Amino acid sequence: MHWKVIRLTEVNSTNDYARKIAEEVPEGTVVVAKRQTSGRGRKGRNWASPEGGLWMTAILKPMASPEHVPKLVFVGALAVVDTLAKYGIPTELKWPNDVLVGGKKIAGILSECKLHHFALLGIGLNVNNDIPEELKETAVSMKDLLGRKVNLDEILQRVLRALSYWYSLFRSGRHYEILDAVRRRSAVIGRRVRILENGDVMLEGVALDVDESGALLVETEEGVQRVIYGDVSLRFS
Ligand code: ATP
Ligand code: BTN
Repeated sequence: MHWKVIRLTEVNSTNDYARKIAEEVPEGTVVVAKRQTSGRGRKGRNWASPEGGLWMTAILKPMASPEHVPKLVFVGALAVVDTLAKYGIPTELKWPNDVLVGGKKIAGILSECKLHHFALLGIGLNVNNDIPEELKETAVSMKDLLGRKVNLDEILQRVLRALSYWYSLFRSGRHYEILDAVRRRSAVIGRRVRILENGDVMLEGVALDVDESGALLVETEEGVQRVIYGDVSLRFS
């Protein structure tokens, strides 16, 4: 993939900026901002994005059939996993969209799409940024783990290189290899989980697997349930 990087000093959200330009720019355009004033996670939840982190959105035009598009989030997550491995940082994936180190969130992926037009792969990775006090229990940065700052541009280049690899698998229909990597990295499979929707527990059971569509299979008392990641949150029980 030939990436073309647009660098911004400050933006509300790189995903929002990317959405505005997505129809006019070629696939592979990447929006990177030093800081975001309203970085967001899923369902509009706030994503802390002070200077020092990697806040980026890749504009992709996958032309895959719609059923595959939800798996793009794994392409982003695996690119982060590979990048952190280069620094000796072992990661786990918390289905569907978080990258954890020792149980704490180091990165989150926000994928959004306009079907048949474009997909936006937003990646937020805590690199040299300070973690806000109220998130210190649940979030961590590369700086915290390594005890030193790392070159942000080097991180960006590594993420893009890894994205090229995983996205090339996605584009050539090698979804199985992506899912296999996700399963191997999963912090969730084999664990007891609760699935919440709008704060209410929707179901509880043992996570069995991620199926070929990217959905999580959970064994509950009523049998195996398939959870599509749309609007749900996962909690460990
Ligand atoms: P959770 O399980 O934490 O609710 P989620 O996956 O359901 O996560 P998301 O929308 O994916 O929710 O992530 C947003 C949440 O991530 C925020 O509510 C906040 O708790 C946390 N968060 C915000 N900024 C950061 C950050 N820079 N690093 C790590 N975690 C963050
Ligand atoms: C999550 O865990 O819910 C996903 C967080 C995604 C954050 C990134 S930072 C770059 C891009 N722009 C945003 O506003 N969000 C994503």
